[in-house]
Amino acid sequence: MPLIRRYDEPDCRAILPEFITKRLVVSCKLPLRFVILIGYSNMRLRTMTNRDVVAGLRLNTLAGWNQTATDWHRFLDASPEGCFVAEIDEQVCGTATTISYQERFAWIGMVLVDPQYRKRGIGTQLLRRTVEYLDQCGIPTMKLDATPQGQPIYEKMGFVTEYQIERWILKRLPDQIVKLATSNIAPLTEAQLSTIQDKDQHVFDADRSQLLRSLHSETPEFAMGVFEQGALRGYALGRRGSFADHLGPWMAESRSAAKTLIDEFLRRSSRDTLLVDCLTANPFATELLCARGFSPSRTLTRMYRGPNAFPGKPDSLCAILGPEFG
Ligand SMILES: CC(C)(COP(=O)(O)OP(=O)(O)OC[C@H]1O[C@@H](n2cnc3c(N)ncnc32)[C@H](O)[C@@H]1OP(=O)(O)O)[C@@H](O)C(=O)NCCC(=O)NCCS
Repeated sequence: MPLIRRYDEPDCRAILPEFITKRLVVSCKLPLRFVILIGYSNMRLRTMTNRDVVAGLRLNTLAGWNQTATDWHRFLDASPEGCFVAEIDEQVCGTATTISYQERFAWIGMVLVDPQYRKRGIGTQLLRRTVEYLDQCGIPTMKLDATPQGQPIYEKMGFVTEYQIERWILKRLPDQIVKLATSNIAPLTEAQLSTIQDKDQHVFDADRSQLLRSLHSETPEFAMGVFEQGALRGYALGRRGSFADHLGPWMAESRSAAKTLIDEFLRRSSRDTLLVDCLTANPFATELLCARGFSPSRTLTRMYRGPNAFPGKPDSLCAILGPEFG
């Protein structure tokens, strides 16, 4: 489609490579609004399907992210109409996903652009498409966990900061890994799992039991509860990612419950790399992680757009499920 656009219009950015636009704007020192680009855009946005999972995996691997094909299927199962790809010459060069939680709020995730197509407005257009979609669905609040690269795009679309999250990583040597047979791990009972789901609904402020059940059925050994005299004091679930095992959500009402859960996760995982996305305000999570050799690897900013009427109870949360899920 031929396009004539002012440079400061977002969809103009996909027309020409960055070095040409930089030459026009930076070298010629022209104000953005006076730069008119005439070009031919072959970028298009469309709904993501199961056939795009391989392309999605390629993009998250290029970005050094930990998702697997199972995670991409989780997004598509939860939101068959609400995940999007950007294509250039029929090759997927960007993605964005959404999950609606009981129509109280929706989560935006997997905003990814192929490194060779960045800074041309594709990320902005993908985000705009997800916001339009969620607006059409009548969902009042949109939430996400932004990387430092993504945060400026979200701010321009009206997202504001709620709190800070930090990703912690542990790299273990083979002799630091306990070789625990799965048969030695007592699985959660159905009653315990449903108590955990109820508690999670209270902490997260929406029912995401389908997602928790899918984590539980994939890796039952990472689903744990701390019960004291029959009462649930803490719980955790986890995932096997492409390069690391990921703990989350990790919720605990006391330091001792938090300690039991992290130590049990370290015992139950057989991978050398482990990840946890901690709430920086939690009083004991980072101290427990430091003491076990974890170190901070990157920051994330929880952001929302809309009324945030369902903020959850972050006080008892040591770690989120993951930035792509909430
Ligand atoms: C974050 C990410 C999705 C952004 O994608 P993108 O397509 O580069 O985003 P855009 O082009 O819409 O905007 C990025 C910046 O480039 C600028 N830009 C856009 N077109 C440009 C052009 N032709 N020339 C120069 N700059 C341009 C935008 O103004 C914006 O600038 P800002 O950072 O000052 O706000 C991409 O960098 C990425 O995949 N990063 C790794 C994964 C990640 O962190 N994702 C975010 C998860 S929250």
